[in-house]
Amino acid sequence: MGDLLTVVLAAGKGTRMKSDKTKVLHKIAGKEMLKHVVEIVEGLNSKIVSVIGYQSEMVKQNLKDYDLEFVKQEKQLGTAHAVMQAKEEIKKHDGPVLVLYGDTPVLKTSTLKKMIKKHKKDNAALSVLTAELDDPTDYGRIVKDDKNEIRKIVEEDDATVNEKQIKEINSGVYCFDSELLVEALENIDRDNAQNEYYLTDTVDYINNNGYKVIPVMINDNREIIGVNDRKGLAEAEKIIRKRVNEKLMESGVTIIDPSTTYIDKEVEIGKDSIIYPFTYIEQNTIIGKNSTIGPNSRLVNAKIGSNVELKANCQVWESEVGNHCTVGPFAYIRPGCKIADKVKVGDFVELKKAQVGKETKIPHLSYVGDANIGEKTNIGAGTIFANYDGKNKYQTEIGNSVFVGSNTTLVAPIKINDGGMTGAGSVVTKDVDENAVVLGVPARVYSKKNK
Ligand code: UD1
Ligand code: MG
Repeated sequence: MGDLLTVVLAAGKGTRMKSDKTKVLHKIAGKEMLKHVVEIVEGLNSKIVSVIGYQSEMVKQNLKDYDLEFVKQEKQLGTAHAVMQAKEEIKKHDGPVLVLYGDTPVLKTSTLKKMIKKHKKDNAALSVLTAELDDPTDYGRIVKDDKNEIRKIVEEDDATVNEKQIKEINSGVYCFDSELLVEALENIDRDNAQNEYYLTDTVDYINNNGYKVIPVMINDNREIIGVNDRKGLAEAEKIIRKRVNEKLMESGVTIIDPSTTYIDKEVEIGKDSIIYPFTYIEQNTIIGKNSTIGPNSRLVNAKIGSNVELKANCQVWESEVGNHCTVGPFAYIRPGCKIADKVKVGDFVELKKAQVGKETKIPHLSYVGDANIGEKTNIGAGTIFANYDGKNKYQTEIGNSVFVGSNTTLVAPIKINDGGMTGAGSVVTKDVDENAVVLGVPARVYSKKNK
């Protein structure tokens, strides 16, 4: 489809969203609506121009990693006026022009391919993707002639009582002959209920000039959802999430109850991993093979290894968990943690900016903040890393094979060297030498352990 130009309209504010943020930046399955649309088009190998206007700088910034050009529509005077802003690009282009809206994120690339194919085969001047809906409210209605070609498209607000009965609607996806598109745009007025330049009026013009406008009826109605308000957003979310879950299941992931499992589009999960219900896996989270996650857990930008057991009610944010670890239930791993292989982070444990070495155990009821813990160390139940003096945060260093007794408070900054040990209930305020045993409040050296 190398001869294709695609114009994506995304300049409108989206008033019906009742939001301070432009509609196309609202997220669906963790990703901005407009990105979904651009990714659908990317599959066509087409040059892409997006018309932006409201909060245009924010939209541009958000899509900076995508290969597309932007043109600006200063005032949002309607969908035809929006396409007009890409006039130069359209004039330069020789071949069909696909136009679609930034608020139709559920479309499939395969549907667009089919449509373009039919457009070319039927030698149409304009093809419109249509659908038949039980409730066509708010969509433009397709008025056809007896040859099954489209005569015109009537918007909800301009439709007569009879036209409102029409169930076939305009999805907002069009394939135009490029020359006729420019010509039609130049001949459109704003004599309608919304006082806007409607792109749908190109149909009239092209028709009146003796060219063919054909409908391409979609197979699956859900694909054409135009997200205009929060209800539409939730509908689109549901469909896209279902697709994400199905793709993962097809690749060998068990999702026990897909209807209560919320996985973002970019997430990667290895095969034979099992996701329990009521679990949220968000943004760029990666999970290895053969791990079990949940129920009722939330992972945000997490990297979880293989053979990990992340039990019920855990949260992991912006952190890494190695292979063969067990986490939870009720563990809270906050941003900046890096947990090596075969570590146990048990119940009611909170970690923040903590590096934890191989085979270390933090089994119960601990707060570990701003810490670097070595390998094969045991952090006893109830241990608190006192990292904050009310003004500043301080670091705790713990070596290998250290034994921190139950209910120890480690007052940072502090270092416990390899083989060190603290007695139950100690409040440790000074560094602990290698193999030394300290205890008491404040902790004093009790002995040196024999090696
Ligand atoms: C539009 C169609 C309608 C169709 C429906 C499908 C028109 C006149 N109507 O209505 O027939 O059934 O989509 O979802 O085209 N935009 C701009 N600049 C503007 C106005 C809009 O860029 O001046 C963009 C918006 O950002 C949006 C898209 O165009 O992404 C569609 O606008 P919207 O207001 O949602 O049109 P609908 O009322 O849904
Ligand atoms: Mg819309």
